Amino acid sequence: MAKERTLSIIKPDATQRNITGKIIDRLENAGLRVVAQKRLKLTKEQAEGFYAVHKERPFFNDLVSFMTSGPVVVQVLEGDDAVAKNREVMGATNPADAAPGTIRADFAESIEANSVHGSDAPETAEQEIAFFFKDDEIVG
Ligand code: PPS
Repeated sequence: MAKERTLSIIKPDATQRNITGKIIDRLENAGLRVVAQKRLKLTKEQAEGFYAVHKERPFFNDLVSFMTSGPVVVQVLEGDDAVAKNREVMGATNPADAAPGTIRADFAESIEANSVHGSDAPETAEQEIAFFFKDDEIVG
């Protein structure tokens, strides 16, 4: 298995409920290592840029508005098969479909307020990591 990096975002519903530590615990228990992390409040422009791939979708404005509603914690996670492993630990986008024991099954409130984001492929991960972090901010 290849050592990989992925981008994770702990979303505003989770920072608002003060459960970032509980989420990071799940990630670390799955063998993922936090090699970069920052807490920030996304601007509208940042959220629109980050989610540009979804700009034609009917929920785009709601998504941008939710992601700018409070602080987020953006992280680079490193580990074997990090992209797939992180998505496994997160569970399905809609918490109603998320497998028991996953972050979204246990913490998410809705398909919008679903507590975490994770890159969906290694190529996307590279772009998403570069969106938030300079190389020297990542310490493996
Ligand atoms: S996925 O995993 O990218 O295929 O999921 P997808 O269903 O395409 O959703 C992409 C992101 O949009 C969010 N989303 C929504 N936000 C607000 N309202 C509605 N109805 C909605 N549906 C989907 C979803 O949480 C995904 O966010 P990220 O941050 O990519 O996980």
